[in-house]
Amino acid sequence: MNRLIGKEVFYFESLDSTNEYMLNKAGTLDEGSCVFCDFQTKGRGRQGRDWLSLSGKGLYFSFLLKPSISLEEIPKLTIAVGVGISKALDSLGINTMIKWPNDIYLNGKKLSGILSELKILDGEANVVVGVGLNIAHDRSDFPDDISNKATSLLIETGENFNKGNLLDILLDFIDREYTYFLTKGVDFDYLSKKDFLFGKKARYLGKDVIIRGISKDCSLLIEDDRGVRGIEGGEIEF
Ligand code: BTN
Repeated sequence: MNRLIGKEVFYFESLDSTNEYMLNKAGTLDEGSCVFCDFQTKGRGRQGRDWLSLSGKGLYFSFLLKPSISLEEIPKLTIAVGVGISKALDSLGINTMIKWPNDIYLNGKKLSGILSELKILDGEANVVVGVGLNIAHDRSDFPDDISNKATSLLIETGENFNKGNLLDILLDFIDREYTYFLTKGVDFDYLSKKDFLFGKKARYLGKDVIIRGISKDCSLLIEDDRGVRGIEGGEIEF
């Protein structure tokens, strides 16, 4: 296998969190190492939230990157991984959208989320990128607070996807996207075609805004009563 990301893959039936595992091993593992498990007891999401990690229902994996890029570029790296995931799903005939900055949406609901965490070791950036993707959940598997916002491949396609095959395809596409990112940056043309938030009315920091797209430097363009500006992070509610 020629790829960097996933050239070595570790498997566990259960872990607290694949991100936590990889962060702890970052000093001893090579770039591209990947870990996945059947279920997580403390799967974590962005903004301190938990990530629902039911046994046999989802794909939970993390991989380690050691990119020679400035710290400001690291959020773009996560966006490039999202592009890779979306392209992998396209190759299976599943037409997803990317919700800036780190979510993959299918038919208006969240299918997958990405959490990147940074650890500096001996002056070198170690970025652990964790991906959770809902595969075989039924509607009733989701708790009430997310049941109308989350979805799975089974719910949307009626198909039961093989976890191992899916991981392999995702790693291939993410690997390609990472190589592209390191030389050319994020595939902006693709990203802008898949921009889930484009044109939507949303709330940002408690104010009404309209999403005007994603700029070439990967910030989100929002319009409020002061005009259009780019934002680098923060939660968008819609
Ligand atoms: C989000 O949308 O909030 C990000 C979710 C990221 C979840 C994945 S599951 C595998 C990896 N390990 C974790 O603890 N979190 C990420």
